[in-house]
Parts: sequence; structure tokens; C-alpha cells
Amino acid sequence: MKFFIDTANLDQIREAQDLGVLDGVTTNPSLMAKEGITGEKNILQHYKDICSIVDNNVSAEVISTDYEGMIKEGSMLAGLNPKIVVKIPMIKDGIKAIKYFSENGIRTNCTLVFSPGQAILAAKAGATYLSPFIGRIDDMNWDGIQLIEQISQIYAIQNMETKILAASVRNSLHIVRCAEAGADVVTCPLSAILGLLKHPLTDIGLAQFLADHNKANS
Ligand code: E4P
Repeated sequence: MKFFIDTANLDQIREAQDLGVLDGVTTNPSLMAKEGITGEKNILQHYKDICSIVDNNVSAEVISTDYEGMIKEGSMLAGLNPKIVVKIPMIKDGIKAIKYFSENGIRTNCTLVFSPGQAILAAKAGATYLSPFIGRIDDMNWDGIQLIEQISQIYAIQNMETKILAASVRNSLHIVRCAEAGADVVTCPLSAILGLLKHPLTDIGLAQFLADHNKANS
């Protein structure tokens, strides 16, 4: 399972990259705004800056909601760097745009996915990645992980090549559950990745080992 970091914060992207386990980055307009990145010129430069840190898979989301606009904007984003994956919302024109990009060798990430039906449609259109938002489903008192399981089963039965990119991942347990459910990728905050490190018995065990070593070697 690949690890993407879900942020536009360059320091956090660098920290995850330094850890050596990072496979990509996802951004969205809200995450860009959160970092104070506004205006087309600054936004495009920020995508270039992210691409300079990571090895591949930088999702850049289109703002357009019409087919022509998405093609123009997505082509421009893809032209910034070969690492860019064009992120497109799950709407009618979005599906048409995904089909266009698929036929023209440009990778896509279909975003804002909340149902198995949407997952089937995106795969039919040739999406490279599919982003079901599990945290937002949990927020509605439904089961986000169950959706990952369902899509995973459908894609396996139907030999669909689209990769399941579990998004809106909020914590470390979500990452473990996504791995169990068959997600190909998780995108999550740095805190969720670092949370995987934690276990009190690791800390207690290490402290004991070091104490025993120091005692024996003093
Ligand atoms: C990633 O592609 C999504 O934009 C992101 O995971 C949404 O997460 P949120 O529901 O925490 O905003």
C-alpha cells in the first residue's frame, strides 16, 4: 500500500519525505487556501515546489466544473511536471474529462467519491486513482472502511485497473483498516503516519534495553 500525504504544507511534506516512506502528495483547494496559497501564479509555483520535494504522484485539483475548462486547466497542470496527477471531481463533465485524459496518457485522481456506483463509473472512464472520502462518510455515521472493502471487491471481480486511494483518512487506525480493506493507497495527515510509530511497550522495552546496556557497560 502506498502512502501519500494529504497537505499543501511544504515542511510536513519534507518531513514525510525524509522518513523515506512517502509515495506522493494530495492537495485540494481547501488545503491550498489553508497554507495561504492564493492566485494562479502562486498556486502553480506551489505545485512545482511540491514536485521538487517528492518522487512522484502529486495530485493537483482543477477548479473548473465544465468539460472544456477541466481539459484546459488539467492539461496546463499536467504540463507543469510529469509527477502531476490531475484531480477531477466526480461529476458528469468530470467523468468525460477523465476519459479524455486517460486516452491522452495523463494520469487522473477522481475525487469526492462516496459510493460504489461512482467508483464503477470512474474506473470505466479510466481514472488512474479513485478517492473515496472515508472520514467524511464516518462523520455521517456511515462506515467509510466498508466502502473501501466494497470497491476493492468490485474492482477485483471486474478486473478494473483503477487504484483505490483512500482519502479523508483522519488517524492511524484508519490506515491499518484501509490496508486490511484492500486500499492501494492511503492519503493522510503527517500525524496519522507518525502515529503508526507509537506503542507504549516499544518505549518501555527500549528504555529497559538501554538501561541494561548502560548497567552492564558502566
Ligand atoms: C484528499 O484527496 C482529500 O481532498 C482529503 O483527504 C479530504 O480530507 P478531509 O475530509 O479531511 O477534508
